[in-house]
Order: sequence, then C-alpha cells, then structure tokens
Amino acid sequence: MSTNITKHNFLVTREQREKNNGHPGLVIWFTGLSGSGKSTIANELDLELNSRGLKTYVLDGDNVRMHLNKDLGFSPEDRKENIRRISEVAKLFADSGTIVMTAFISPYSEDRKSARNVIGSDFIEVFVNTPIEECIKRDPKGLYKKAIAGEIKGFTGIDAPYEEPLSPEICLSNLSISDSVEILIDYLTEENIIK
Ligand code: ADX
Repeated sequence: MSTNITKHNFLVTREQREKNNGHPGLVIWFTGLSGSGKSTIANELDLELNSRGLKTYVLDGDNVRMHLNKDLGFSPEDRKENIRRISEVAKLFADSGTIVMTAFISPYSEDRKSARNVIGSDFIEVFVNTPIEECIKRDPKGLYKKAIAGEIKGFTGIDAPYEEPLSPEICLSNLSISDSVEILIDYLTEENIIK
C-alpha cells in the first residue's frame, strides 16, 4: 500500500478531451469463453470506429498477459488481479476520451461487478455468448484439446467456471462477426455515443 500520496489535478479536463475527440470516453467490456470471439469482434469494431475517425483502442487478454500482467496465472486470485488492473487501465483510457474495448474472459461475476464499479457509468458489458461446444470445435489455439487431455489445469469451461452475465447491456448469441459489429454500432448510435 502506497502512503504519502497526493492526487494531482491536471489542466486539461476529460470534458475538453472528449470535446476535441467528438465523442465520450467509454469502456466496452467483452466477456465470454476462450475462443468465443471476443477479440475478433473487438478488433472489427475497433476497425469500424477507427475508420470513422474515432479515438479507439483494444486491450486483449493474451497481449496484456504477455507484458503488464506477465506475473499473473489463472488461479481465481490471479484472474481477479488481472481484471482489477485491466479495469484501472481501461478507466484511464476512458478518462483520456478514448473508446476502449477490453477482451478478457473475466469469468467471475464479482470481478466484472468490481470493474463496473471502478469504471462507473461509462461501462458497457458485452456477453459473447458462444456455447462451449462451439468454442471446443473452434479451438483456435489448441488449448481446449490440451485442457480436455488434462495437460492444462483450471481451464475456463473445462475444469474452471465461467459465470454467465445475468444482465449485460448486450448479449451476442450465435451471430456472425459482421452482425455482431452492426448490433454494437446500432447500440452506440442509439445511445448517442457515436453519430
Ligand atoms: S481471465 O480469466 O483472467 O479473464 P484472460 O482473458 O486474461 O483470462 O486470458 C485468457 C486467455 O489465456 C485464453 O484465451 C487462453 O488463450 C489463455 N489461457 C491459458 N491458460 C488458461 C486457462 N487456464 N483458462 C483460460 N484461459 C487460459
């Protein structure tokens, strides 16, 4: 725990940054099983928003775990810390006026709730609801095969839990990537976040 810390107030406000950007800062929090399509959808949404000239960024599980969170594994405690750090980073991005998409399994309801509390009202939870059977069939990284063979312990959906969101802002079930992106764009437009 750090002591003797004083918050510094900066001269450029979030409102000014958002005014310059022409849209609010926002966190679009994708959750779902490994292989459900979180990163792919986040990437395509990023591409669409970026091509419209908006300030966007993607924080992705594997990439963040290679660097910022390389000291963390997959125990429930480490996943909690993973999500806690991501929440704080995502909050900074939103504060900078960026639309940030996060693609993490984030399997525990309690950890997602904490993320929502940390970030506040600029938080949209998107459940990429792809059934485990489909994720196993896709197995893009060959990890389900290993987990089923017992070579990886505590793999989400196999021998570690995934707690489905009960009231996400958006649930994407059995949709193509382009339909998923369209739903997200429609939502952002209806909510007056983008034009
Ligand atoms: S989370 O549970 O802490 O949110 P995160 O999204 O960062 O997970 O990382 C998930 C990615 O790590 C998976 O897509 C997969 O590539 C890899 N991975 C390695 N081991 C595991 C495991 N035991 N459970 C789930 N994913 C794992």
